[in-house]
Amino acid sequence: MELSGSVALVTGGGGGFGSATVTRLVERGARVVVADLDEAKGEALADELGDAVRFVRTDVTDDDSVRAVIAAAEDLGPLRVAVVVHGGPVAGRRIVDRAGAACPAGAFERTVSVFLTGTYRVLSLAAESMARNEPLESGQRGVVITTASIAGYEGQAGQSDYAAAKGGVIGLNLTAARDLAPLGIRVMCIAPGTFFTPAYGMTEEEAEARFGPAVPNPRRMGRTDEYARLAVAIAENDYLNGEVIRIDGAQRFGVK
Ligand SMILES: NC(=O)c1ccc[n+]([C@@H]2O[C@H](COP(=O)([O-])OP(=O)(O)OC[C@H]3O[C@@H](n4cnc5c(N)ncnc54)[C@H](O)[C@@H]3O)[C@@H](O)[C@H]2O)c1
Repeated sequence: MELSGSVALVTGGGGGFGSATVTRLVERGARVVVADLDEAKGEALADELGDAVRFVRTDVTDDDSVRAVIAAAEDLGPLRVAVVVHGGPVAGRRIVDRAGAACPAGAFERTVSVFLTGTYRVLSLAAESMARNEPLESGQRGVVITTASIAGYEGQAGQSDYAAAKGGVIGLNLTAARDLAPLGIRVMCIAPGTFFTPAYGMTEEEAEARFGPAVPNPRRMGRTDEYARLAVAIAENDYLNGEVIRIDGAQRFGVK
């Protein structure tokens, strides 16, 4: 798919992966709607990148909010690309803690609601919009790129909520690609390893010292632009569909 002149939507567009992806999409000539809960980050990115970017405060856990940001994208033209890369809170607790208490199901549910149901909500409503597009010469109407994690395959201790949500995003991928195939809409998923972003809540030096040495090659954390370049390559290549691509420097998570 030709990105120049296309309209794209990026959920979590103000975040680490999101802002790198928005920047690359704009560089390729796309107009991008940044959908993020964080107004300061979203507005700052829109100011930095100029007219090609519009920020709409969005909560992926809310149908009306997601419908509104999709309508804002449609105002710019047919929505062709949706990159689903928002973050959210995680419980960060073992299923049974040292005191013998179970982590409440409510905490599990909150994580699944943002990371898995939120992904489904954006995917399905973006696809509903794309289904109304005139097909391109290639027969394609659009592409949705979701974001899992290698924790969806190798969940570490204390990550049950996050690993289950990300495993769900992985499981959703092929069936979504099959469901949307008759509409000419592709669905791809990126499963990143460890990339430094604000989500780590520490300095880059601290994160690199802690997580970089566990990556076989390159022996460092990933760079958000490496994710962004993969997202752009997926959007541009019509024959990529129904696959989950790990981008992790050959890292496989251990127990912790
Ligand atoms: N950084 C990593 O190492 C890594 C690895 C694997 C997977 N991921 C996944 O990549 C995605 C992005 O992570 P990141 O590292 O860029 O995080 P980040 O914290 O830098 O960015 C996440 C963005 O999502 C936004 N957000 C949070 N809740 C939202 C909501 N309800 N609606 C809309 N926006 C919301 C935040 O405001 C933030 O701007 C997440 O799904 C994360 O699980 C990250």
